[in-house]
Formats: sequence, C-alpha cells, structure tokens
Amino acid sequence: MSATLLYEGKAKKVFATENPNQVRVEFKDDATAFNGQKRGQIIGKGVINATVSAHLFRLLGQHDIETHFVDDPVPGELLVDRLRIVPLEVVVRNRVAGSLQKRTGLEEGTPLSFAVVEMYYKSDVLGDPLLNEDHIRILHLASPDLTARLKSEALRINDVLTPYLAPRGLILVDFKLEFGMTDQGVLKLGDEISPDTCRLWDTATGKKLDKDRFRQDLGTVEEAYQEVRDRILAR
Ligand code: TMP
Repeated sequence: MSATLLYEGKAKKVFATENPNQVRVEFKDDATAFNGQKRGQIIGKGVINATVSAHLFRLLGQHDIETHFVDDPVPGELLVDRLRIVPLEVVVRNRVAGSLQKRTGLEEGTPLSFAVVEMYYKSDVLGDPLLNEDHIRILHLASPDLTARLKSEALRINDVLTPYLAPRGLILVDFKLEFGMTDQGVLKLGDEISPDTCRLWDTATGKKLDKDRFRQDLGTVEEAYQEVRDRILAR
C-alpha cells in the first residue's frame, strides 16, 4: 500500500500516516536557491538533514522547547506532529551575512550586539518578502501576541543552539525557523534545522559549511554537510 502524498515541496515530501495528527516527512537530496531559480542535487543531503534535524529537535525538547518531532524511524525520514504552519519564516541572526549584508552594507561576519529577528512572508509568488509587524497584522498572518511569541521562542532556540554548536567548532551565523499550531492549539517548532536552513561557519577558519556552498558555487558541498553532521552528532 503506498502512502498518501499530502504535499511535495522543494526539499521534502509529506505523507499521511494512520494517525491523523501525525505526518511522515521524507527529506530529498534536491536543492534549490533564489526562489527555485537555481536547482541541483546535494548527494546524501536528505539523510543528513533528517538526522541533524532529529538530533537538534531532541536537544530543544530537553530544554522544554515544543517541537513537532516525534521519531526518526528510518534514515531520511521524520515522524512529526501535523501542524497548521504560520506562513512566516522566522530568521534569527547573530552575525551579518546574506540578505542582511545586502540590506545594510555591513561587512559579512560582523558580530551583532544582540540577536536580530526578522519575519519573512512565505509566498513563492512574492518571493518571500521581509515583513514588519504592521504588515503581518494587515495580512492577518499572525496576531501581535503570536508574533511576539514567535520572536521570543526563536530567541530561546538561539540560546540553546548557539552554545551547543560553539564547542563543536561551529559559529551559528543565522538560521530560519517555521512554526505551526496543532489542532489542540499548541504552538510548536516545525520544518527542519539543518545546513539548508542555518548558516554555519567553521570557528577556526571561517569556512562556510552550509547551503551557501551550493548557493555561491563554492564546491565541496557534500563534504560540508557531512562535516556538520559529524560535529553535531559528536558527544
Ligand atoms: P538570508 O540571509 O538569505 O535572508 O537567509 C537567512 C537565513 O535563512 C539563512 O540561514 C538561510 C535561511 N534561509 C532559508 O532557510 N530559506 C530561504 O528560503 C532563505 C532565503 C533563507
């Protein structure tokens, strides 16, 4: 019996399970960048991103942060709670990189004196634009209360991940989160936490060990993902 495919995105497939409150997420090796304009494959990425995500969701769970993670039954797949996703990408930044560098002209790598939180509208048609709190309100994407909770939850997650990664030789430059609600109205972290959704730089050399190697054609993409997995899983 083949499972019902509920949704196929750029990097994942979501399948129904026998439990209506849970779905199975299959992580793909497919990679896209710049709103799908650049396409390719990163061999082994699906398994690595599922493995890294499961590990970091467990870590967050140990710090009383609610996530959708339930189990990782086989490599490359996660069993997760079904969420109604808030259509916002919540980005946390510890250093200047990417679109913040372009927006501000600050030098790449500059440490920020406090963690900067940004919200982007999940809309392929609009190209995921940056929104301020008023924009979020007029679009009814989240109430002011929920927006505030998303921000404080994202900062709590940063406060767990940054010190976890530092002794593993990884600088958490920035990352993107997605949140959603269970049918019971519980806010949980969803999606993934992986080198696709985080900027991770080697502490000693500053080498980029994340999807920027694919975005910017820097080479040794697969090796970078393997290195990140090995460091994150190391005791
Ligand atoms: P940005 O600097 O391009 O705005 O990206 C900020 C962070 O968000 C970076 O860690 C990469 C991640 N990200 C995604 O996960 N998905 C996206 O579509 C984009 C644009 C960024």
